[in-house]
Amino acid sequence: MCGIFAYLNYLTPKSRLEVLDLLVTGLKRLEYRGYDSTGVAIDSPDSKNIVMVKRTGKVKVLEDAILEHFSGGEYSEPVMTHIGIAHTRWATHGVPCERNSHPHRSDEGNGFVVVHNGIITNYNDVKTFLAKRGYEFESDTDTEVFAKLVHHLWKTHPTYSFRELVEQAILQVEGAFAIAVKSKHFPGECVASRRSSPLLVGIKTKTRLATDHIPILYGKDDKKLTSDQVLPRSDSTSEFMPLEEKEVEYFFASDASAVIEHTNRVIYLEDDDVAAVRDGTLSIHRLKKSLDDPHAREITTLKMEIQQIMKGNYDYFMQKEIFEQPDSVVNTMRGRVRFDGNAIVLGGIKDYIPEIKRCRRLMLIGCGTSYHSAVATRQLLEELTELPVMVELASDFLDRNTPIFRDDVCFFISQSGETADTLMALRYCKQRGALIVGITNTVGSSICRESHCGVHINAGPEIGVASTKAYTSQFISLVMFALVMSEDRLSLQQRRLEILQALSNLADQIREVLKLDSKVQELAKDLYQHKSLLIMGRGYNFATCLEGALKVKELTYMHSEGIMAGELKHGPLALVDGSMPVLMIVLRDPVYVKCMNALQQVTSRKGCPVIICEEGDEETKAFSSRHLEIPRTVDCLQGILTVIPMQLLSYHIAVLRGCDVDCPRNLAKSVTVE
Ligand code: M6R
Repeated sequence: MCGIFAYLNYLTPKSRLEVLDLLVTGLKRLEYRGYDSTGVAIDSPDSKNIVMVKRTGKVKVLEDAILEHFSGGEYSEPVMTHIGIAHTRWATHGVPCERNSHPHRSDEGNGFVVVHNGIITNYNDVKTFLAKRGYEFESDTDTEVFAKLVHHLWKTHPTYSFRELVEQAILQVEGAFAIAVKSKHFPGECVASRRSSPLLVGIKTKTRLATDHIPILYGKDDKKLTSDQVLPRSDSTSEFMPLEEKEVEYFFASDASAVIEHTNRVIYLEDDDVAAVRDGTLSIHRLKKSLDDPHAREITTLKMEIQQIMKGNYDYFMQKEIFEQPDSVVNTMRGRVRFDGNAIVLGGIKDYIPEIKRCRRLMLIGCGTSYHSAVATRQLLEELTELPVMVELASDFLDRNTPIFRDDVCFFISQSGETADTLMALRYCKQRGALIVGITNTVGSSICRESHCGVHINAGPEIGVASTKAYTSQFISLVMFALVMSEDRLSLQQRRLEILQALSNLADQIREVLKLDSKVQELAKDLYQHKSLLIMGRGYNFATCLEGALKVKELTYMHSEGIMAGELKHGPLALVDGSMPVLMIVLRDPVYVKCMNALQQVTSRKGCPVIICEEGDEETKAFSSRHLEIPRTVDCLQGILTVIPMQLLSYHIAVLRGCDVDCPRNLAKSVTVE
C-alpha cells in the first residue's frame, strides 16, 4: 500500500529534469502498490528550497504536470549531489486529493518533507502534542505528524544530526511505516527507515564495492515523548565503519522492481533500521541493540531481469502474466521435481521435513488469492500427509485468537510476502512456538525473512494487482510439498506417480487452455453488461469458483459469487432463473455425479449455465449450448486448468467494461495495512 521512492546522486552530475524522470519512472514501477494520488519533492534551482508537485490520480497525471511545471532551462543544469523523493498513494487517512498526497511537509518553508507507506497508529496523540506547540495541520493524513515532529525536534535540538532527528521521531511513533525524509536544512542527505512496511536501498557505483556488508551502528535510548519532555540524545557505539565510495547513487524503494533498471545491488532494511546517507556515505543504524541483531546488513544481488517487469507486447500486465503461466509453472518446479527419478527436493524446507512429519496439524494461512491456493490444495494435503489440515484467512485467524501449539506447522502463503494480516498472523504463531513455513514469491520479503523455512514459488514478478500466475505457482508449490511428505508411504506411490506424470504435462496443457482466449472473449461479450455472475463447482474445483469470483469482482466491479455446488439447494438456488448468468465446473472426477445433480437443478430452473468440462465430454456438453473444454488431468491438478478460463474471462469483461485492468479501483497490490 503506497509506493515510496527516493533517489540520491552523490558526485554524479544529474539535472533536476533527469532526477524527476528517475523519480517518475520509479513511481511507475511502484504504481501497483497504490494509485490514488502521487507527488515528488526536489531542490529548487538555487538549492535553497524544496519544490513539490502533487496530483490526484495516477503517475501519468503527475508526469504531465511535471512536464508543464519544470519546463525552464534552470532545471536542465547538472547538479553534483541532490536528493529527490517520490510517492504513489493508496489512501488510508483522508480522501485521495492533492492536499492529502505525499510528500508531506513540516512547515510552510518545506524544511522537512516526508514520504510514507504504512499507518502511524498514534498519530492523534502526536498531533495533539504538536498542536499544543503551535503546529497547524493541512492534511487529514497520519503522515503529516511525522514531518512536523521532525521539525519540532530540530527546533528544540539544534545540534542533532539529520539522522538523529529522524531516529528520535521514530521513537515516538507507533504502527507501521517505511519512510524517506528530505530536508532543506540538510542538503544532499537522506534518511529512511522501516517498521513492518518494506524498504530497500539500491546502490550503484562505478566500481565494485570493497565490501558486501554495511556494518550496523547501535543507539542506546528508547524513550517515549511525554508532554513537555526534552528528548534525550541517542548515543552510538563506535564500532561503525561506513561504506565509502566517491561517486555513488542510492535508490530507496518499496520494492526491487523500482531499482532493477539502475542496479542489481540492494540492501533489504530490517524493522527499525535507520539508513542515512551523508557526504555520499551510507550508514545503517539501529535504535537499540538486541541479542539476535547481526553485525552488518548484506548487499544482495538481485536475480530479477528488467524484461520481467515490462509489459512487452501485451496490453496489460495481467494479460502478460496469464500468458506466462506455461513458463511460470515450470519455473516453480525447476530444480525441484526430477521427473526421471520421480523425486522432489524442496531445498528451503528439506531439513525441516522430519519435524513437519511429527507435527500435530498443518495450518495454511493467507489472504485473497493466496488463501484460495490453500483451499485448492487442502484435500490433496490431507490425502498425502494424513494430517489434519486447517485453512485460515489471516485476518479472521487473528480476530479469533486462534489456539496455536508448539507442534503446529503453520504455512504463510503470500505473493508479496508483505501482506500485513498474514505477517501479523505469522508473528502470532511464531510467538507461540509453531514452526513457520513461508510460501512467497518475493525474495527478501518480510514473510520470507521471518519464516523458519520456506518455498519461493519463483513465478517471477507479478505486477497486475489481480493475482494470476502467483496463484498457479502457489498451488504447485503446495502440491510439491504434499509429494515430498508422502515420499516414503508405500501405499501412496501409485497416486504420487499419477500426479508427477500430470505435472510433467501441465505446461503443455496450460498452453492448450490459453488457446480458448478468443472463445472466452466471445463469452465475455455476452456477459459484460450483466450485474452478476454465479460460479459453481465442488471438490477440487471449489477453489476455482472462489478465485474466479474474486477476479470478476476486483477487475470488473460486477457482483460475483463462488458457490459450493453442494450448497446450492441450501439457499443460492433461489438466485437462479432464466436471466441469471451461471458458470459451472463439471469435470470427470469423484464428484462428477454430484456436479451433474447440481447442473440439473440449475437447468430445471430455466438456468442456462456456461459449462467448463473436459475435452470431448459430449454427455456433459449436452446440458448447455455454451461450454469451454479443457484437457483431462489428474483430479488434484484440475484447479490449475479450470482457473485459467476464469482469469481470461474476468480480464475480457474488465476490458469490455472499460475498467483499468492492472489498477482496479480502491485496491493495491501489496496490502501492508491491517
Ligand atoms: O501478496 P499476497 O499474496 O499476500 O496478497 C494477498 C491478497 O491481497 C491478494 O491475493 C489479493 O486478493 C489479489 N489482489 C487478488 O487478485
